[in-house]
Amino acid sequence: MTVQWSGLGPELLLQLDRGLGQPLRSQLEAGLRDAIRGGRLQVGERLPSSRELARELGTSRGLVQECYSQLLAEGYLTSHAGSATRVAATARPAPAKPPPGQAPPPRLVADFRSGVPDLASFPRGDWAWATREVCRSVPTPDLDYGDPRGSMVLRQVVAGYVRRVRAAAADPDRIVICTGFAQGLNLVLRVLAELGVRRAALEDPGYGSEATSESVQTVLAMGIDVVHVPVDELGLDVAALEASSARAVVVMPAHQSPTGVVLAAKRRHALVDWAARNDGYVIEDDYDSEFRYDREPVGVLQGLAPDRVFAIGTVSKSLAPAVRLGWVLVPPPLVDAVATAKRVSDRGSSGLDQLTVATLLESGRYDRHLRHMRSLYARRRRVLIDSLARHAPGVKLTGLAAGFHAVAHLPYSADEQAVVTAARERSVGLYGMAPHRGTPVAAPPQLVLGFGNVGERAIESGIATVADLLS
Ligand SMILES: Cc1ncc(COP(=O)(O)O)c(C=O)c1O
Repeated sequence: MTVQWSGLGPELLLQLDRGLGQPLRSQLEAGLRDAIRGGRLQVGERLPSSRELARELGTSRGLVQECYSQLLAEGYLTSHAGSATRVAATARPAPAKPPPGQAPPPRLVADFRSGVPDLASFPRGDWAWATREVCRSVPTPDLDYGDPRGSMVLRQVVAGYVRRVRAAAADPDRIVICTGFAQGLNLVLRVLAELGVRRAALEDPGYGSEATSESVQTVLAMGIDVVHVPVDELGLDVAALEASSARAVVVMPAHQSPTGVVLAAKRRHALVDWAARNDGYVIEDDYDSEFRYDREPVGVLQGLAPDRVFAIGTVSKSLAPAVRLGWVLVPPPLVDAVATAKRVSDRGSSGLDQLTVATLLESGRYDRHLRHMRSLYARRRRVLIDSLARHAPGVKLTGLAAGFHAVAHLPYSADEQAVVTAARERSVGLYGMAPHRGTPVAAPPQLVLGFGNVGERAIESGIATVADLLS
């Protein structure tokens, strides 16, 4: 018969098997040693008294005392007169060595990884203030599971915000709060798959291939085929979309990632027309449009066709990815289906975080933060342009109208991957266009230069360090 004992906490389970033919004392010793070595019993943790443990295990107290004495002698336990027996500091298991190939990455002089906002600028003070406000004022019933669409307070605030800033056709009843673009896409595709959508188009370059992109994997996981549709200087090639027989397309009209192209007005209309004629759906990834430098932000496509477009917003770029909060503006007939998918997925996003974001938006602190970030990114963008002009004048930059990344066009003779590798050897993080391509093509060498999370001095010295590789 096996006696199970879990009195040290939920994770510690000691087993004595009386049918094993092995002495109980050695079983108990081995169980405790394993728990200490494996880290289930941490250094300094208190063990139960011998009397308590003997009762739990149905053994004699003497047996437990002998066992403790043995482990004391071996250095696994310590005990001082009048105090409890504890796991000894010397019993700490050697820290696991990282497996080969997983050593921490070396520090970079400059890391031009795209998609990352300035993490150091996260408005910690405002967040802490808003969290306190929410904790002080949240009505007790709002601490329960809520509407799967999300907090009504946040939905109202988001609706007002995206109407004002993004010219969206937003109604709080038709918004589903989610944890960001990744989840929004997942929920929408699930619903579209149920509606019989079997093929979805992705921009190319864009999210990349199955090997490089979680978004592509998400589409495939829903049982939906992926087709890649080219992006040119006017944005998504809508004629190619038409020819692809896809019924859904994921598109970034305001600032395509990674090319930085803005979808041209006539393509916007053609895309909406495509959706209407084909019973098709557009999933709009509206990820970084708050940051536009040359003129006012372009409104969302969803404003033109709210019945055909799902617009997904996120605070990953405006605040930080760690917040994990976003929203989907859903065509009216599909709101319940998306809300159900959200409920099934995780029963709703954190109600407290939703209220915190709503408080930031309502208080004007979010807008103030955006103004601050816009001028910070504008300065970094300027430094990037100037540094390239100074150190590698042959390199053209495009895609700079918005966001915080740009595309650098290398000379035709350059080898994109070789430049990336050589830059890494000089401790500069450069990233090629190749991982963003859905289909491997012989394309001109390009780099995607993120400048969101790199300081001005690092941009300047990073570009100076790799200038000869770029030219
Ligand atoms: C193109 C694009 N869209 C959206 C996002 C934001 O995703 P999420 O909201 O899940 O953080 C990212 C993040 O890097 C991105 O690169």
